[in-house]
Amino acid sequence: MYKIAIVPGDGIGKEVMKAALHVLEALNIDLEYEFGEAGDECKEKTGEALPQKTIDIVKKADACLFGAAGETAADVIVRLRQEMELFANLRPVKSYPGTKALFNDLDFMIVRENTEGMYVGEEELSEDGNTAIAKRIITRSASERICNYAFQYAKDNNKKKVTGVHKANVLKKTDGLFKRVFYEIAEKYNAEGIEAEDFYVDATAMYLLTRPQSFEVIVTTNLFGDILSDEGAGLVGGLGMIPSANIGENGGLFEPVHGSAPDIAGEGIANPTAMLLSVVMMLNYLGEKESAKLLDKAILEVLAEAKTVTSDLGGNSNTMEMADAIKKRING
Ligand code: NAI
Ligand code: MG
Repeated sequence: MYKIAIVPGDGIGKEVMKAALHVLEALNIDLEYEFGEAGDECKEKTGEALPQKTIDIVKKADACLFGAAGETAADVIVRLRQEMELFANLRPVKSYPGTKALFNDLDFMIVRENTEGMYVGEEELSEDGNTAIAKRIITRSASERICNYAFQYAKDNNKKKVTGVHKANVLKKTDGLFKRVFYEIAEKYNAEGIEAEDFYVDATAMYLLTRPQSFEVIVTTNLFGDILSDEGAGLVGGLGMIPSANIGENGGLFEPVHGSAPDIAGEGIANPTAMLLSVVMMLNYLGEKESAKLLDKAILEVLAEAKTVTSDLGGNSNTMEMADAIKKRING
């Protein structure tokens, strides 16, 4: 039995979460849900976007499913990452049929360091307002942790290569350290048949467009990972398609990349795929590989058939109709 924290949030976050819970009924897994409030509506009601009660629910759970928040998203999600020490941000770049993917043969993972680098929030503006300085912190411990995670992920998922991405020719000290640590960890995994390579981030940005099929797992620092993972999302089309995971030593939080989409919220027409693929990631994380495969396959089939899909995919089904088609596929 797994304890799952369910935090639907605002707008279409609630709608795609309802779809996820509907589809989960078809899988034969013992899940116990605990619901937590967070986001704009919660702030209006309670005065807080992320009440302590919700943090406690998430901390106690084996994993958390998060929908989307509205204007308070940064407070909610950044705070949850800190509270739970979710050091790895995972964004799969996988093409599914029937979507606006630019390539139909992509399947790789971007592993982004989530706790330091350029996003430590240490910036200064000079008194005259003409010079601004941002600190970029790279530590051995965080680099080891994220590189270990990436190589272990490769090993667990039958990937044969990990690409370390940096800018060590210019950022000699910070990325010099990151690159050194990357190859130290690589050595341990070489013996297990996992290859390592490294590229500069600018070259990587180009390779993602010219030969994205060559990647299996990419590991990189915070800012570079933020940018490259959005590029990856662009390769496989549409916000309604892109899931993500935030992983720590004591838990994981799984969420679609999209927000609360106020322009379509309440209409029940949001594409549930990003949320459902986040569920696939959660099931893999929990070790429920068979269920993850079943769900992934059902999503793929419904997308490929292109009959019961939402309007962003060119169909005319609503959120729950598409979710129900996926649920029926699982049931066979
Ligand atoms: P958004 O992702 O909510 O929407 C961008 C566009 O994509 C909209 O036209 C929307 O209709 C469409 N879209 C997004 N998800 C879709 C889906 N599943 N199916 C069909 N269409 C979809 O981003 P936006 O508009 O920049 O932000 C809206 C609100 O969401 C803001 O308050 C923002 O702060 C919040 N937000 C929250 C995030 C989170 O909770 N992790 C992430 C991004 C934004
Ligand atoms: Mg981003």
